[in-house]
Amino acid sequence: MVCNHRCVGCLLCLLSLLCSLTMATMTSQSPLPSTPVAKKVEHVMEMFGDVRVDNYYWLRDDSRSNPEILSYLQLENTYTHSIMSGTKFFEDELFGEIKGRVKEDDISAPIRRGQYYYYKRYLKGKEYVQYCRRLVPTNDTAPSVIAAFKVSMNNKLVAYAEDTKGDEIYTFYVIDAETGAPVDKPLTAVTRYIEWAGDEALVYITMDEILRPDKVWLHKLGNDQSSDICLYHEKDDIFSLDLEASESKKFLFVGSESKITRSIFYLDVAKPEDLRVLTPRVVGVDTSASHWGNHFIIRRRTDDFFNSELLACPVDNTSETTVLIPHRESVKIQGKQLFIEHLAVYERENGLPKITTYRLPPVGEPFKSLQGGKTVDFVDPIYSIEQSESQFSSSILRFSYSSMKTPPSVYDHDMNTGISVLKKIETVLGGFNLSNYVTERKWASASDATQIPISIVYRKNLVKLDGSDPLLLYGYGSYEICIDPSFKTSRLSLLDRGFIYAIAHIRGGGEMGRQWYENGKLLKKKNTFTDFIACAEYLIENRYCSKEKLCIEGRSAGGLLMGAVLNMRPDLFKAAVAGVPFVDVLTTMLDPTIPLTTEEWEEWGDPRKKEFYFYMKSYSPVDNVKAQNYPNILVTAGLNDPRVMYSEPAKFVAN
Ligand SMILES: *[C@@H]1O[C@H](CO)[C@@H](O)[C@H](O)[C@H]1NC(C)=O
Ligand SMILES: *[C@@H]1O[C@H](CO)[C@@H](O)[C@H](O)[C@H]1NC(C)=O
Ligand SMILES: *[C@@H]1O[C@H](CO)[C@@H](O)[C@H](O)[C@H]1NC(C)=O
Repeated sequence: MVCNHRCVGCLLCLLSLLCSLTMATMTSQSPLPSTPVAKKVEHVMEMFGDVRVDNYYWLRDDSRSNPEILSYLQLENTYTHSIMSGTKFFEDELFGEIKGRVKEDDISAPIRRGQYYYYKRYLKGKEYVQYCRRLVPTNDTAPSVIAAFKVSMNNKLVAYAEDTKGDEIYTFYVIDAETGAPVDKPLTAVTRYIEWAGDEALVYITMDEILRPDKVWLHKLGNDQSSDICLYHEKDDIFSLDLEASESKKFLFVGSESKITRSIFYLDVAKPEDLRVLTPRVVGVDTSASHWGNHFIIRRRTDDFFNSELLACPVDNTSETTVLIPHRESVKIQGKQLFIEHLAVYERENGLPKITTYRLPPVGEPFKSLQGGKTVDFVDPIYSIEQSESQFSSSILRFSYSSMKTPPSVYDHDMNTGISVLKKIETVLGGFNLSNYVTERKWASASDATQIPISIVYRKNLVKLDGSDPLLLYGYGSYEICIDPSFKTSRLSLLDRGFIYAIAHIRGGGEMGRQWYENGKLLKKKNTFTDFIACAEYLIENRYCSKEKLCIEGRSAGGLLMGAVLNMRPDLFKAAVAGVPFVDVLTTMLDPTIPLTTEEWEEWGDPRKKEFYFYMKSYSPVDNVKAQNYPNILVTAGLNDPRVMYSEPAKFVAN
């Protein structure tokens, strides 16, 4: 149920929300259409002597073709359209305004590899990206339209994929980078995991029939795909494989991952038939690896060292480990990036991402614990950063940056001097000026006194901060996902109308490190909901808004959050948007035939066990709808959504 929050769908939610706010004034004269009523068919479920009656169980139909169900869903859609009809014109206007801020023809900041610059080009009216390269200094070659793009070590060959169906199963073509001539037969039915092992071989991963990446293959150029060598087959179906090349390009790493465990194999590109174990599989131990000099660099998370530690071991004796950065309770290690003389560590501390860089000892000298790390400075008090592709041989670290007021920016940070240079900032059209906005961090006190971070943005001089401003509070809080404060062009339409926008960084997410997640899942899931309520109360007490102006939004697992807090505190909010909400937690998690159920018992709990059953029942939104005054709620569902079945939101509404 991991969702791509803030996708196009979300934009639509935003539009609908605005509508429901203006709805009261728009529709007060005309009579409201009658609310659709779903028929009731008693479905009795009994477990541990507990009886639940689900009158709307019949709404679930895996074939999605039952005419009675479709006609009920149609009634709900008609009702929504009729309720929203008063603001149709405003919706169109708003959509035009949001589109008008986006610059459609654009290219990414180029990255240099060898004698070429590589960059991406986004074209007006096209949904795909062009991968391009040009000779240094400048000589444009015709760009080709492709989905994935891997250049061989000597820059002479390119393996690229065409993603024609959007099903993430690719056909890879290998061409001469200079002439574009094909040099090998295409490789079919490959995942996006493909890497060069030197200049004459490719390693790639394929999937089994349930689309689980399960086999690693070695392909030598010129050979038929049918004679490729299978290097590894992951037979345990709770594990999936992935593949990554080291920054040095000398090693490939194959990861085998379940929800809580990740072990690694490695392969020297000079001897690509020889796949070896780097970190053995130990349940609950999660590792990732890189290569530098004569060493592997390993990030390792265990139950005790939950925020990860960083280790080094010699390539020729992987059991001889040295701790480079020890585990810390308050700093989580998220990622690492190696350079010929430096190491950049992506971390989280105090609810924000950070980057610390270290100068590494000369190759050949033994590794000791790393000292004297330098942290990178950022321009805003709260922000979001993303790792970017950099050149291994340089001392320049490239990263992407944005904040709730600063559009996406690409920086080149010199790890020797500590100076960051802005290479590119996304153009926002329509008179946008970032100095008009304020972004800040506040902390709400949860019921157990835990301090919950909140990110806030608003437009200066438009808001009064006296409790009369409207506010949209967003939350997610599951799967250790961090909702860092980043830039959203569409949000400006809200801010420029005097809205305050806030993100509640509640437990269940990963914003404050691994424990933040552990304390908001399984039998501690309710912390996620009470944290969100605490954030809402903080914003009201501190006059950012009032109950009459407080709107909330969440999608997928964040839609579960919406359902839960609406049942717990319907009095606290004016309006809510629940996008494809996961609201039928108990019934869904009791049904192992539904996709995601079995692998998600680690997140929500296995309700076939009594303790979990009663705990999940106590918050599962569909099981807790009561006759009480609810705020305005917009619930959306996707008939073909594989992550949250349409029947969950439909049942929530019917109840
Ligand atoms: C660009 O490269 C092509 C062939 O690689 C060459 O013929 C042409 O003269 C070059 N153009 C410029 C402007 O350097
Ligand atoms: C590898 O390292 C371990 C742990 O330090 C040591 O016991 C072992 O003797 C080493 N093996 C070799 C071949 O050097
Ligand atoms: C943005 O606003 C600031 C402060 O009002 C002003 O100094 C600056 O010139 C403006 N920038 C642009 C590009 O209009």
